[in-house]
Amino acid sequence: ARVAVLISGRGSNMAALLYAGRADDCPYEIALVSGDRPNAPGLTLAKAEGAPVVSLDARALGKSYWDALNDELEKASIDLIALAGFMRIIPTTFVERWAGRIVNIHPSLLPRYKGLHTQQQALDNGDKVSGATVHLVTPELDSGEILGQVEVAILPGDSAETLAGRVLIAEHQLYPRILARYAARPFEAKWIEEQVDALAS
Ligand code: GRF
Repeated sequence: ARVAVLISGRGSNMAALLYAGRADDCPYEIALVSGDRPNAPGLTLAKAEGAPVVSLDARALGKSYWDALNDELEKASIDLIALAGFMRIIPTTFVERWAGRIVNIHPSLLPRYKGLHTQQQALDNGDKVSGATVHLVTPELDSGEILGQVEVAILPGDSAETLAGRVLIAEHQLYPRILARYAARPFEAKWIEEQVDALAS
């Protein structure tokens, strides 16, 4: 499967996906790295690693950003889109175009703590574990089918930062593994139709 990774910042999950994708037995390859912010540090890393990079400036493009992105994805014959710290809400029309073919990683054990500041919420609630989730993207934020999760223990004295640091290590293990599993199943036309129907109902 040909995977596009979309990032907005640091790109450490993008790097984890890229490095795992280099293994001979990995069923996906990173065929495109793109971002909505041209100065995202992760794009510099992707370029240095020789990954095909197309950066689009979402702010400058306005509404045409999503069409421009779609054109790039089609040009690169992309099968799957992996969001990795992509800080933009995806319009429903775009989600429908790629129904069942966009995955995301979120730093909590969904359905707990959608949105931002997940580790602070886990700490405030006195949770004993945090973690990360890889899920399918649907028009509703952080709510699609869960494809895989990993738990991370919360330690006495943890701050949101120290906890996020350990969750990030776990994310780097989880994301390539779950993406590989997901990419290994066939993307038949009928299955894609079912995904589109499921979104519409
Ligand atoms: C990760 O914690 C991810 O779960 C969240 O945003 C962060 C991105 O970090 N969606 P990076 O850019 O992959 O380093």
